Amino acid sequence: MTFPIERHRRLRRTAALRSMVRETALRADQFIYPLFVTYGTNVKREIPSMPGVYHYSLDRLEEEIRDVIDAGISSVLLFGIPEHKDAAGTSAYDADGIVQQAIRAIKGWAPEMLVVADTCLCEFTDHGHCGLIHHDPRTGIADVDNDSSLELLVRTAVSQAEAGADIIAPSNMMDGFVAAIRAGLDEAGFTHIPIMSYSVKYASSFYGPFREAAQSAPQFGDRKTYQMDPANVREALREADSDVTEGADMLMVKPALAYMDVIKTLKEQFDLPIVAYNVSGEYSMVKAAAGNGWIDERTTVLETLLGMKRAGADIIITYHAKDAARWLREER
Ligand code: PBG
Repeated sequence: MTFPIERHRRLRRTAALRSMVRETALRADQFIYPLFVTYGTNVKREIPSMPGVYHYSLDRLEEEIRDVIDAGISSVLLFGIPEHKDAAGTSAYDADGIVQQAIRAIKGWAPEMLVVADTCLCEFTDHGHCGLIHHDPRTGIADVDNDSSLELLVRTAVSQAEAGADIIAPSNMMDGFVAAIRAGLDEAGFTHIPIMSYSVKYASSFYGPFREAAQSAPQFGDRKTYQMDPANVREALREADSDVTEGADMLMVKPALAYMDVIKTLKEQFDLPIVAYNVSGEYSMVKAAAGNGWIDERTTVLETLLGMKRAGADIIITYHAKDAARWLREER
């Protein structure tokens, strides 16, 4: 009889042993829960492609914030559905815009809640793109103009900070957005407000349900001239490098599941906190499969979030945050 040279199963024999040698753990205080806020009264409307995720009017938001706190979540990321959209996305930087109102309200109910503001124009423009459209008369091609869009983004970020946002998260992928927003925040007296940059945001199919939720699908073309090509990882390093140089405080990779190698690469190359965005399509896939009884939702969600952690994510933005936090508490 020969015996196996290595006995890996020795350390898997009991739950206590497995727990003792566990290398990675999820923490609810590192989850960020996205919320969609809208106009109207008494609105709590489920997003069809995202079961369990809702649009809230401001009068229904407080009960949701209480539930977020009850779940053990200390941070939310806000998206707004405006009443009015136009070519310049003016509702994005209106001091009384829906996001600005929601920030003020949340800070009133729960001053200790970390409020992250997504800084972008696509939910507020009638064309659905993330900046100002420039039509090139020579080629007839319409595309997002980089530098004029930056000015509007800066106004948006400053208005969000004025409303009380704790973290500014610019997501529109214009070149130079971190430097522009950093300067704008500093000049307005917000030197203490960190920037969580959507450094590496891919042009991804996984945003489909979000675009339904935020009513932000581009009305023509796509976002490939500003969001990244899914084939590239060295380019991700250049994007992240620019953001670090420009003053980013945290670096985000988005989506997460198809980009675990990118999370790992950024973690190895940079010493800033790394954020993974577990996006809408990733959420919807799990919900659909679980709803059909094809997978177990709880274990699948915890396994995927753990995978993001293991890949190198410090912080995870996820629509599963409330459920995951509750499950983690039950496990203890
Ligand atoms: C705004 C923005 C998007 C998401 C977050 N901020 C979508 C997009 O680029 O269309 C997607 C989030 C998700 O899918 O959960 N630019």
